[in-house]
Amino acid sequence: MTDPIYKTDALIADDIDAYLVAHQHKTMLRFITCGSVDDGKSTLIGRLLYESKMIFEDQLAALEADSKRVGTQGQEIDFALLVDGLAAEREQGITIDVAYRFFATEKRKFIVADTPGHEQYTRNMVTGASTADLAVILIDARKGVLTQTRRHSYLVHLLGIRNVVLAVNKMDLVGYEQAVFDRIVADYTAFAASIGITDFTAMPISGFKGDNITSNSANMPWYDGPALLPLLETVELDATIDQAKPFRLPVQWVNRPNLDFRGFSGLIATGAVRPGDEIRVLPSGKTSTVTRIVTLDGDLPVAVAGQSVTLCLADEIDCSRGQVIAAADSPTEVADQFETTIVWMDENEMLPGRPYWLKIGTQTVSATIQHPKYQVNVNTLEHLAAKTLDLNAIGVANIVTDRPIPFEPYAQSRDLGGFILIDKMTNATVGAGMIHFALRRASNIHWQATDISRDVHSGLKNQKPAVLWLTGLSGAGKSTIANVLEKKLVRMNRHTFLLDGDNVRHGLNKDLGFTDADRVENIRRVGEVAKLMTDAGLIVITAFISPFRAERDMVRAMMQPGEFIEIHVDTPLAEAERRDVKGLYKKARSGQLKNFTGIDSPYEAPEAPEIRIDTTSLSPEQAADEIIARLIP
Ligand code: ADX
Repeated sequence: MTDPIYKTDALIADDIDAYLVAHQHKTMLRFITCGSVDDGKSTLIGRLLYESKMIFEDQLAALEADSKRVGTQGQEIDFALLVDGLAAEREQGITIDVAYRFFATEKRKFIVADTPGHEQYTRNMVTGASTADLAVILIDARKGVLTQTRRHSYLVHLLGIRNVVLAVNKMDLVGYEQAVFDRIVADYTAFAASIGITDFTAMPISGFKGDNITSNSANMPWYDGPALLPLLETVELDATIDQAKPFRLPVQWVNRPNLDFRGFSGLIATGAVRPGDEIRVLPSGKTSTVTRIVTLDGDLPVAVAGQSVTLCLADEIDCSRGQVIAAADSPTEVADQFETTIVWMDENEMLPGRPYWLKIGTQTVSATIQHPKYQVNVNTLEHLAAKTLDLNAIGVANIVTDRPIPFEPYAQSRDLGGFILIDKMTNATVGAGMIHFALRRASNIHWQATDISRDVHSGLKNQKPAVLWLTGLSGAGKSTIANVLEKKLVRMNRHTFLLDGDNVRHGLNKDLGFTDADRVENIRRVGEVAKLMTDAGLIVITAFISPFRAERDMVRAMMQPGEFIEIHVDTPLAEAERRDVKGLYKKARSGQLKNFTGIDSPYEAPEAPEIRIDTTSLSPEQAADEIIARLIP
């Protein structure tokens, strides 16, 4: 790291290396400040940086690039200028994500996550809070507990932050009066209890004047609690608490440089480990004994939460990335269905039934979210009925993963109970969540083995089951081609069944409309039905717009390899609209029909379909022949 700019510490000036070594061994507290510029948040952060007298190069660079108002290296920084710089950053939107600021005192290093306080930045606050040991909830002494105070407190509690500081700021503007402080604390106490925050430290401060920041202020002799920085320097860190929990190491990679060495590397999430300890690998449940704890600095006699290590085991058991090595006598649970709280972070709404990547610990699996049980109004904390979750919405929903995963409830472990959701097409992080518990139905429903297998069914019919999945715009010709195709296959003595969009929507899917969420559910159900039909040995033909790649890929993944045949009935929009067999394009264009595919609802054409049919050059008869020729060469 380069030279810190604020040279009040003699050691910094004389011997930067010695200074940095001294700092390396300090503990680090991560905290988040909740509030808005009006509450004096920039001023408070500026005050902390200023009082700590140590501001590091990277944030100076950000300030400089931004405002050019802050002094250059080696110059002393003026408090007012510093705060101006921080505020300017915010105004220009630089901190819309999460700004992490670093500072240090004699006792500790700090990372403060500075996120905007408005509701439209809920996702940013959640990101900042997810790794914080402590939250400072700022209140303007003139205004008291506000809606945003409640929202911030709810999020802080939801994200499992154990230490809450209620900083009643701007005490200088209310004459440092104890009565004002006491009234706000009483208000807050009542509210906090209602959401489950039982423990917090309330403190009267002035970020602007510096009261109760580094030491207790003579202006408020009636306050006998700690000042802010001394409290930040001494609160117990999550890492310390994590060390007392059972041992868990999510495996990041398997280290096998040669045949003589095989080690499992990762960051210890909780607990401690010693050579000789019995461990259990999850989800397999296989046990072994730790023989060595290897690090770059040599072997260790013991390693604890927060350390990166490589473990060697006595036995050659299977263990790979994403699995968890745990204490043998207190392993994690393993399940594939969970109740969770989800914070949606994407502009596109959450789609129940769509498969997303779910990243938990060091593992990434495919997962689908079911319909939300409810959404939480983050301002009133009321539970609302919801079909989906929009940007910044928070809700409770069950999640199903495509395989059993080792986990812990979020309340016990952020590392093994917190997850993020990633869109499979764009790779964007679209949500974050917390596991409450595994659904017991997951462990109570077993797969029933039946004697008549799918092979018996298809053998009787003397055919290989298949799904001929026709996709394309409304009016592209899917149903027509599917109908001709089925007749030809039946003439060839094949056992078929045709699932057609309009027909299925009269029965099984009568309850579904044409929102994105309903289309996802439509295809999910059709996929499940097609799967059952292939188990019955049938050749299934489907004719659905099925506009989204994600769901077509999901259905493909449900079938046996080679069984799913994607057929793009490729008719240009202009041509489908010209034909307009059902008069629906006309309605859609005139605004009488909403969410119409190709008009105001998307169609994602297949990128690599098995078969593409150009309906501008082939008749339905020729199209069906072409498909059969490709199937039975
Ligand atoms: S999908 O998008 O969910 O796959 P599906 O194939 O079941 O759609 O149903 C499409 C049929 O419903 C169309 O052929 C058309 O007749 C009818 N339809 C009614 N409203 C719409 C709409 N908004 N968008 C598309 N098709 C619609």
